[in-house]
Amino acid sequence: EQIKKGSYDHFMQKEIHEQPHSLTTTMRGRVKDSGVLLGGLKEKEYLKTIRRSRRLVFIGCGTSYNAALAARPFVEELTGIPVTMEVASDLLDRQGPIYREDTAFFVSQSGETADTLLALDYALENGALCVGITNTVGSTLSRRTHCGVHINAGCEIGVASTKAYTSQIVVMVMVALAVGSDQISTQVRRQAIISGLSNLPSNVSEVFKLDTEMKELASSLIDSESLLVFGRGYNYATALEGALKVKEVALMHSEGMLAGEMKHGPLALVDENLPIIVIATRDACFSKQQSVIQQLLSRKGRLIVMCSKGDASAVCPSGSCRVIEVPEVADCLQPVINIIPLQLLAYHLTVLRGFDVDQPRNLAKSVTTQ
Ligand code: AGP
Repeated sequence: EQIKKGSYDHFMQKEIHEQPHSLTTTMRGRVKDSGVLLGGLKEKEYLKTIRRSRRLVFIGCGTSYNAALAARPFVEELTGIPVTMEVASDLLDRQGPIYREDTAFFVSQSGETADTLLALDYALENGALCVGITNTVGSTLSRRTHCGVHINAGCEIGVASTKAYTSQIVVMVMVALAVGSDQISTQVRRQAIISGLSNLPSNVSEVFKLDTEMKELASSLIDSESLLVFGRGYNYATALEGALKVKEVALMHSEGMLAGEMKHGPLALVDENLPIIVIATRDACFSKQQSVIQQLLSRKGRLIVMCSKGDASAVCPSGSCRVIEVPEVADCLQPVINIIPLQLLAYHLTVLRGFDVDQPRNLAKSVTTQ
């Protein structure tokens, strides 16, 4: 086992650090200057069927659901097709409507998650085109869907999903680029994203320079009972996923929240003790996040702000927040960058709190029962 971990102490740590490489393999042979080529969607005019869909439905559980949520704004923007998000178990509980005119995307690292597979059976029965996005070649998901895209992130052993998450987002971005490739009005935007994808692995490598800082942050949070993470837009999913990582491995209560909902309830929790991470990297929501930070500071909130490099004084002019500066990339790719400091934080917090990193209590890598 130690040989497989190489120079790392845990699989989670190794898998976090593998991301520049796993993202490269996810994109290998698929991202060209001229556009994106996805072999799995090429046959039988699947791309055309997806373009004609009345709706795209993204279905998954846990981290895989969060990856799909991260991609949703960009998929809607580039395809012009509305996206509905479905947690697999909730879709089944509600027996929610799925139509023949829908394309349902099933996102799953293992391709064996029982809830996701049951939701797949349900969508097949209802006549939707079913597309699988999975890391596991030959998995039940990849066999039962009509078509799909493998994420090619390499084997993930730690129960906490890390490198699969970032590769899932990149696959969804590639799907959006491929589906939207017939639209002239978005050509310039598509080209900018394509060059952003090419530089993404080196930008991810940059983020590892924050490792010591995240360890220090973890030691300052070691005795906290709870941690809130506020995000919005592209980074609402980052807030949910960051909180899920902290919860599942560091065994600390943590909630990811939509920053736009802050004043509708969560604001009551704010005091000088509760640590709150606010994601405020540059995108269309930046000024709204600046005002969220001001509102939290005026309630004496204990803030940790994630911002784009060079933006420390723009997000926290008073200097009273702890600031994490990350490289700025294309807005829709920023979630891939922003989750990494939070993965590192969850990892260090777990080690410092003395919990099992790779096998958190009560959890299994693949949940094959309902
Ligand atoms: C991720 O850290 C979790 N262990 C969990 O939420 C996981 O993503 C979920 O169970 C779905 O698994 P899948 O991607 O293999 O379908």
